[in-house]
Amino acid sequence: MLSMMQPTAIAYFLSLCSFLGAATVNVTFENLQELLSTALNDTKNNVDANLNTLELIRKAGYPAEAHVVLTEDGYLLTIHRIPGGKNSPLVFLQHCLLCSSAGWVVIGKNKALPFKLADQGYDVWLGNFRGNTYSRAHITLSPSDSKFWDFSFDEMGTYDLPAMLSYITNLTSKPLHTYIGHSMGTTTFYVMAIKRPEIAKMVRVMISLAPAAFVGNMTGPLRLIAPFISSIEAVLRSLGVNELLPKNSLLQYLTRVGCNFDPFTKQICSDIIFLIIGFDQEQFNYTLLPMILAHFPSGTSIKTVLHYIQEVNSGKFQAYDYGRQKNMQIYNTTVPPDYDLSRITVPIALIHGDNDWIVNEKDVNKLRGLLTNIVDDYRVPFSKFNHVDYLWAKDAPTLVYEKVLETMKKKVN
Ligand SMILES: *[C@@H]1O[C@H](CO)[C@@H](O)[C@H](O)[C@H]1NC(C)=O
Ligand SMILES: *[C@@H]1O[C@H](CO)[C@@H](O)[C@H](O)[C@H]1NC(C)=O
Ligand SMILES: *[C@@H]1O[C@H](CO)[C@@H](O)[C@H](O)[C@H]1NC(C)=O
Ligand SMILES: *[C@@H]1O[C@H](CO)[C@@H](O)[C@H](O)[C@H]1NC(C)=O
Ligand SMILES: *[C@@H]1O[C@H](CO)[C@@H](O)[C@H](O)[C@H]1NC(C)=O
Repeated sequence: MLSMMQPTAIAYFLSLCSFLGAATVNVTFENLQELLSTALNDTKNNVDANLNTLELIRKAGYPAEAHVVLTEDGYLLTIHRIPGGKNSPLVFLQHCLLCSSAGWVVIGKNKALPFKLADQGYDVWLGNFRGNTYSRAHITLSPSDSKFWDFSFDEMGTYDLPAMLSYITNLTSKPLHTYIGHSMGTTTFYVMAIKRPEIAKMVRVMISLAPAAFVGNMTGPLRLIAPFISSIEAVLRSLGVNELLPKNSLLQYLTRVGCNFDPFTKQICSDIIFLIIGFDQEQFNYTLLPMILAHFPSGTSIKTVLHYIQEVNSGKFQAYDYGRQKNMQIYNTTVPPDYDLSRITVPIALIHGDNDWIVNEKDVNKLRGLLTNIVDDYRVPFSKFNHVDYLWAKDAPTLVYEKVLETMKKKVN
């Protein structure tokens, strides 16, 4: 039942984006339909696109391991590792919304950040949050239970990161040299550092790629659907949908609508590409599209996205808003409490870009004003640099990863 309803909800979501996108996004992608159908065909036929994170790492010539970690609230998470030597410093990478550990490695050998870190002698660990392709398990709940999906980025910061980080530091008996987060991988780190400071103490330095605490100045399609969030929530709830965009859902949907019929489906297709690549056509490598569509999206809870949309609307970085009455029961206040960023003591490096419509420079300014221990602050020197360019841009190695490696070598205390 649920599996039949999901595509409907996804279609609803996407057509809404599409409709709003059509009204505001004035970009035409030449040959888009052709590109997309080629990409879809490739994904079906291309063996590489169907490899999982472990296989992608091994294919690039590195050893790979998978570790399963139990959280305090019963979720089983998979961490991927490119093991280093006995004296290798630990680095942990945490993915963005609807992403997985695979997102870091799809650009391949000699380019991807995890491989560069392994080449420099680090012991590299790639986390996977609850609800994504690699972490869809719980000791008592199944993904078909709505309770399984009752989490947002708050729980990822409160339970997932502490479980993964203490597992790694226990196993190796070392502190964490560097935590690298991308987008939601930063949001959750801030939550963890505020709610679980004893865990954050194990981290020497944190690097924020697209630091996502405040999103009140977000632009693009999500900004436009934000005002309608309560009706969207009601529709999804009435359909019994708790999970958003699991692996291959986009691919299956695109295959089904065909991407080349009427103007409406055409528009959906172009908006999906827009959602993925933003406006940075220069840095986007179309050859990677089959791989990207095979690994993105990787699934999360609807509640996670609702939590972000609440922050778009409120302009605040605060706990989940359940409504006045339930907030009172849960938080003992009608308004959810703010996450107090000034309490974070871990040294933080900020890396951000001009053309990121999710993490706007204005919101980075707001965050900068509240953090008390910023050790590096870097604006990617490319004016069209967008939200996913951190992972997939042709020039990500020179524009971003060199800076990351340099920051990691700095003394911070
Ligand atoms: C799809 O891929 C197969 C195998 O690579 C190829 O033979 C076929 O021509 C492709 N079809 C299209 C429409 O690109
Ligand atoms: C790590 O070690 C501590 C102390 O031995 C223990 O209490 C904790 O449960 C361990 N955590 C994990 C995730 O293994
Ligand atoms: C946008 O950014 C400015 C500057 O940092 C900030 O003062 C303002 O609160 C933000 N707007 C919203 C709606 O969050
Ligand atoms: C709830 O808040 C009120 C007013 O701030 C305070 O007096 C009371 O002690 C709080 N109750 C709990 C259980 O924290
Ligand atoms: C684009 O991706 C393909 C496949 O990974 C790769 O072979 C090629 O070098 C990339 N092109 C650029 C300009 O990065």
